[in-house]
Amino acid sequence: MKGLVLSGGEGTRLRPITHTSAKQLIPVANKPVLFYGLEAIREAGITEVGIIVGDTWQEIQEAAGDGSRWGLKITYIRQEAPLGLAHAVLAAEEFIGDEAFVMYLGDNIIKDGIKDLVNEFRSQRPNSQILLVSVPNPSQFGVAELQDGKVVRLEEKPEKPKSDLALVGVYMFDANIFKAAKAIKPSWRNELEITDAIQWLIDHEYKVVPHLVTGWWKDTGKLEDMLDANRLILDTIEARIEGDVDEGSTIQFRVIIEKGAEIQNSVIRGPAIIGAKTVIRNAYVGPFTSIDANCRVDNVEIQHSIVCEKTVIMDHPSQRTFRIEDSLIGTNVEIKRTTQKPRAHRFLLGDSSKVELL
Ligand code: G1P
Repeated sequence: MKGLVLSGGEGTRLRPITHTSAKQLIPVANKPVLFYGLEAIREAGITEVGIIVGDTWQEIQEAAGDGSRWGLKITYIRQEAPLGLAHAVLAAEEFIGDEAFVMYLGDNIIKDGIKDLVNEFRSQRPNSQILLVSVPNPSQFGVAELQDGKVVRLEEKPEKPKSDLALVGVYMFDANIFKAAKAIKPSWRNELEITDAIQWLIDHEYKVVPHLVTGWWKDTGKLEDMLDANRLILDTIEARIEGDVDEGSTIQFRVIIEKGAEIQNSVIRGPAIIGAKTVIRNAYVGPFTSIDANCRVDNVEIQHSIVCEKTVIMDHPSQRTFRIEDSLIGTNVEIKRTTQKPRAHRFLLGDSSKVELL
C-alpha cells in the first residue's frame, strides 16, 4: 500500500497564521501537525508516501524533506488549485498507479494512529474503508448515515445532519476511487468532494466499510481545535528535562524542557513543553502550554497556549500583568511593554489578526 497525505489547502480558518505559513506546519506540542500523520503512516508499515502540496509547497518540502528521517520515501505532487479532496486524489493518480492507498488529511491527528485500521483494510480488502467518529457538531464535517452497520449515505457539511457520525480525515481506497472522482461533479463550494466520490462507490455497489473510531481525533482547522489537539498530545507526554533549571524555579507535573532551554526564577506547571534554547524568566507557564524553540518569555504568565519559534513575550518586572491564555502566537512575534510616550498600545498586525485586551 501507498500513503497519500494532503497538505495543500489555504487554512482560511487559521488566518493570519496561514497568511505566512502552511496550517499543516503549525506545531502541536512543538511538532508540526503534519509529522503526526507521517509517523502514523510509517507505523502502519507504509513507506512510499505522496504529499499533495499547493501554494505552500516549498515550506512543506523544506520541513518534511525526502522523508528518510522516518524511513519514508516522499514524493511531492503539486495540486494546481485547492479544488477539493477528490481533485487531489486525481492529481495523485500516476503516483498511486493501481495500488491500494491510505489517504490522510495533513491537518488531522488520531490518537491511536492508523496501524490497526490499515491492517483491517489489508485483510478484508473492501474497495474503501472510512473512519467515523461521533461528534457534537456534525454539520461541520462530512456525515455518514448507517443502516444495519452499512454506510448508505454520505453528505458533506449538511445543514440537517442525519447522524452525529463525522468522517475522519483518513480514508482507505483501491484504484476504483479514480473512476469515482472522475464521475462526480463539483459541489456548491466548487470542490470535487471526496464524500461525493465515496457516495458514487456506494451507489455503484462497491464495498465501502465503516470503522468507528473510539479514541480521540482532531481536525486542527480552527484555533480551538488546535488548542484541543495541543492539550490532548501534552496529556500524553513523559517528563524530560534536558535544559537548565535554576534554583529559583519550580517544575511541577509532567514537563519537557529541551536542550539549551533556560528556566530562571519561574514556575512551569505541566503538562507543558519548552523548546530548545528558549529562555523563560520570572514567568509562570501553566498547564497545556507549548513554547517552541528560541523564544523568550519574561515576566509573563501564560497557559493553555501555543507559541511558535523565535517569539518574544516580555513585560516589565514591576508590572507583570501580561496574562495570556487560549492563544496561538506565530513565529517571530514580539509582544512587549513600552515606556514610550504617548502611552498607548501600538500594533503591527497582519490581516485577520485577533487581539483581545483587558
Ligand atoms: C474535510 C472533508 C470532510 C471531513 C473533514 C475531516 O473537510 O471534506 O468530509 O469530515 O475533512 O477533517 P474540510 O477540512 O475540507 O472542511
